[in-house]
Amino acid sequence: MTRDILKTLKTEHDELRGLFAELKETTDRGVKKREGLLEKIEEALIPHAKWEEKVFYPAFKERADREGLQTLAEAISEHHAVENSVIPEVHAADPSTPEFAGRTKVFGEFVDHHAKEEEKTMFKMAREMFSANELAQFDEQYEDWKQSDAASALIAMEKTKAGVKGAVKAMAQ
Ligand SMILES: [Fe+2]
Ligand SMILES: [Fe+2]
Repeated sequence: MTRDILKTLKTEHDELRGLFAELKETTDRGVKKREGLLEKIEEALIPHAKWEEKVFYPAFKERADREGLQTLAEAISEHHAVENSVIPEVHAADPSTPEFAGRTKVFGEFVDHHAKEEEKTMFKMAREMFSANELAQFDEQYEDWKQSDAASALIAMEKTKAGVKGAVKAMAQ
């Protein structure tokens, strides 16, 4: 089967949706489960989002028309909201509390909404912009990048940032 970055990104969206669905089923007593699922979500989401921001979105921008540029601006704005507000609020909550349940539910809703917009609008545009060969090349680059030291370093840094922002938010509560 030919490789296709858009299929890979869609599959990752679905994996995230599955993890959020599992998280929603947890109770305030399931602290270990909640922590484990949040960890898995971040391990899946951070490389996905960072690669979109560093490679896919800029390539999309180069070929986008006005409508495409607006769609891109929405996507970037949603990434920022999740990174700067939604995730830090989750980290500021104790996993044994209803606050954690509420905030991770919002986190899941944000990710689902954003993923839907990408799938229904952006990826449709991208399929017109890029050849099958280009989409296959992106897919290979993404896989290589995920296994690189640069990606591991970036993921570790982003996780630390989320923790620090969460601690700051927790103090402000
Ligand atoms: Fe995205
Ligand atoms: Fe995405």
